[in-house]
Amino acid sequence: MKIELTYDSPSQIKTDLLVIIIDKETSLYDLSGSPLNETVRRIARDFEEKRLKKEYFTALDGRGPAGNLLVFSTSLSTAFNVWENLKTCIARSIRCANDLGLKKVTVALNTNAAAPFIGKAVEGAILGSYSFDKYKKEKSSLNQIRLTLAALKTHDKQNRHYVDRYTIVSEAINEARDMINEPGAVATPQYLAEAAQKIARESDLDVKVWDEKKLEKEGYNGLLQVGRGSAYPPRLIRLSYRAKKARKHVAFVGKGVTFDTGGISLKPADKMWEMKGDMSGGAAVLAAMKAIGKLKPDVNVTGIVPTAENFPDANAGRPGDIFYAKNGKSIMVDNTDAEGRLILTDGLHLAGTEKATHVLDIATLTGAVVRALGLSIAGVMGNDPKLIQAVISSGQHQGESFWELPLPEEYKELLKTPCADLNNIGGPVAGAITAGLFLQEFVPESTSWAHLDIAGPYLRDKEWKYYEAGAIGFGAKTLVDLAERFNEYFG
Ligand code: BES
Ligand code: ZN
Ligand code: ZN
Repeated sequence: MKIELTYDSPSQIKTDLLVIIIDKETSLYDLSGSPLNETVRRIARDFEEKRLKKEYFTALDGRGPAGNLLVFSTSLSTAFNVWENLKTCIARSIRCANDLGLKKVTVALNTNAAAPFIGKAVEGAILGSYSFDKYKKEKSSLNQIRLTLAALKTHDKQNRHYVDRYTIVSEAINEARDMINEPGAVATPQYLAEAAQKIARESDLDVKVWDEKKLEKEGYNGLLQVGRGSAYPPRLIRLSYRAKKARKHVAFVGKGVTFDTGGISLKPADKMWEMKGDMSGGAAVLAAMKAIGKLKPDVNVTGIVPTAENFPDANAGRPGDIFYAKNGKSIMVDNTDAEGRLILTDGLHLAGTEKATHVLDIATLTGAVVRALGLSIAGVMGNDPKLIQAVISSGQHQGESFWELPLPEEYKELLKTPCADLNNIGGPVAGAITAGLFLQEFVPESTSWAHLDIAGPYLRDKEWKYYEAGAIGFGAKTLVDLAERFNEYFG
């Protein structure tokens, strides 16, 4: 996808498709002095008086330099929603142009009010033109569309900053989507390790990978226990970004289960294929680190991805197995399908060794969170209300929803077993919460911690907003936003 800025008036630009977005609260375009202004005004009236629905397309037949006109009507009250809607309109415009065989799309965003939307438009275009077509004969041509944003020259510096920033983040997210969409037989733990090494080179980060021998030597038993049944041995990945000067250090820990069959506690066949995406938390961390290495925020960031495949086999772990986590606590594996929390014990421990002051883990951890919050909202819990609020608010800035769940002391009872310090499951109720309480037992001493359960939004089975069906790379942009605003939140 090629994106450029122009400071010519949108009515004067030679283009195949001119896009106008009408919003009741915010005036995003200025067509004054052009006959198009009257056309758009008439269309706006038709929207208002309900003769038209959300979207209107017309050929302009030589009336002016634009071949066709696409007008959207949004009627939203909050800035956050306007941003999401704008991204959706841009993605929709690109799809419309592509369907009609048009190559050059121009969006009018040439007012003061529109300036902050430039980055959001770029995101809508890059995420909206993504297609996972590598295994299909018919390739998508969405990414061949050329997008011009007609903006305000007075905001040139700001505009260019936002184009660059949102290009970096959105392209990293699309890479995460590729990793998630790849089959489990391709995106193995070693594959993720190599992806991390490539990211380290591209984004100037330090990288370290623990292979199975090193994991054994150092006692990373969560990964070893989960990985026992797989032909692809586990890895522990660490990417480090160090700011020029920073007092705070945040670690992101992403669950990287490259395929979750459930292990001996085997999952049912229906939709099991979706468990190729059980490394979505890990992919979000890799993408965030790729962007952070380029954006260079004023906070130290460590990205950690414990990665393993959960498979049944003669060597696989079995229900009733007991092992010692890195912090010395013994865990009984009551259900081998509750594997994410086991590998996360190793990731959380490494975050402590790295001396992170703040730790966030992100994981497709429980079916229970999907039952509680559905497909559009992720769960967030933790031990520091400020960090939880920071996640929610960065999520809002980037169009990702998080909702807090509590971690009541009382429910710790549910993780008791006569056989070990902890059971790995908490019984039939409050599954998202008991998973959070389990993780809390492995959070390094005196660190701020939040746990993001993204089992709902990591995948869509239909197109959603500006995303095609499949992986959306959920969480990456919230993590990047959080790193960028870190001193604002915790300074
Ligand atoms: N990867 C799954 C959770 C999941 C479910 C992610 C649906 C995405 C969509 C996780 O490893 C798992 O299997 N969790 C079990 C835990 C249970 C055995 C306590 C679950 O939620 O059923
Ligand atoms: Zn599982
Ligand atoms: Zn899992």
